[in-house]
Amino acid sequence: MKAAVVSSFDTAPRYADFSLPTPGPDDLVVDVLAAGLHPRVLSQANGSHYTSTDELPLVPGIDGVGRDAEGNLRYFVLPDTTLGSMAEQTVIDARRSIVLPEGADPIAVAAAMNPAMSSWVALRRRVRVEPGFSALILGATGSAGRLAVQVCRHLGASRVVAAGRNAEKLATVGADDVSTFDRVGEVAADVDVVLDYLWGEPATAAMVALVTARPDRGKPLSWVQIGSVAGPTAAIPSAALRASRTQIVGSGQGSVGTREILAELSGLAQAIADGVFTIDVHPVPLSDVERTWSEAHGSPRRIVLTPA
Ligand SMILES: NC(=O)c1ccc[n+]([C@@H]2O[C@H](COP(=O)([O-])OP(=O)(O)OC[C@H]3O[C@@H](n4cnc5c(N)ncnc54)[C@H](OP(=O)(O)O)[C@@H]3O)[C@@H](O)[C@H]2O)c1
Repeated sequence: MKAAVVSSFDTAPRYADFSLPTPGPDDLVVDVLAAGLHPRVLSQANGSHYTSTDELPLVPGIDGVGRDAEGNLRYFVLPDTTLGSMAEQTVIDARRSIVLPEGADPIAVAAAMNPAMSSWVALRRRVRVEPGFSALILGATGSAGRLAVQVCRHLGASRVVAAGRNAEKLATVGADDVSTFDRVGEVAADVDVVLDYLWGEPATAAMVALVTARPDRGKPLSWVQIGSVAGPTAAIPSAALRASRTQIVGSGQGSVGTREILAELSGLAQAIADGVFTIDVHPVPLSDVERTWSEAHGSPRRIVLTPA
């Protein structure tokens, strides 16, 4: 079969032949209808992700939507193996998949599940939020950040503040207020939750600004570390933690168990199928994978590979 094949971590995947492995007892073979090119997939394909085993060749893709032999439309997540979702067919563990409502748009689901899951799981599994909570999204202009604004509202937020480095893009994310990182103290001083996609210097600047401006320092603030687009480390001033009731937690594979993540798939997939969230998608045939790969870095649209 044809697939997007990575033969070297220095070059983009090529549309080439790849053998389908023999499925195990809990496995299903699916015809892949849509596979999202998420940041996590880029790091899988260039060998920089912390789960990389350096084994080549590999087919990238950590999730997708496919049709099984019985005709069911399934959203699936894949373990880190050498056969991902960017192929005509892939092998999935039925237990790591859900049957989608018929009529669900495979491209929309493949585009939105991964970025939307980041805030959905953070808010439902890593912090306790009450109806009417307020949130600050750091890095709100990417796919995950834009969806985080919508997920916060869907889960009951009364106020969402979006922070980013590009004022023009920030104005389009649908937040109640927008801010640069160093000025969040002026518009978001009293938020309950921060969803942080950036880490690095923007996180430090925002934490200092926010904690310094907090009107009630005894009010709990949950800072959820979700992505590290701006840097793998952040200098956190000790006083920021002593002078406020700030609690920093992470949300992702590991801090949220596989079982917990799987338990959230149906609810989120249903919301996406119902059209609750909007995401800017760019469908591209699998055969164009090599050309499209370079466009994925920093793309405002989520690229989704579809059958060639
Ligand atoms: N933990 C989880 O469960 C989970 C799940 C999904 C995604 N993630 C992670 O979340 C992060 C964001 O994902 P995404 O899908 O939204 O990516 P994306 O669509 O590529 O968006 C990247 C975002 O980061 C911003 N950015 C990039 N470099 C920056 C810098 N140096 N300083 C400030 N802002 C910067 C971009 O701002 P501009 O718009 O101005 O370029 C944009 O808002 C990634 O690290 C991803 O791996 C985590």
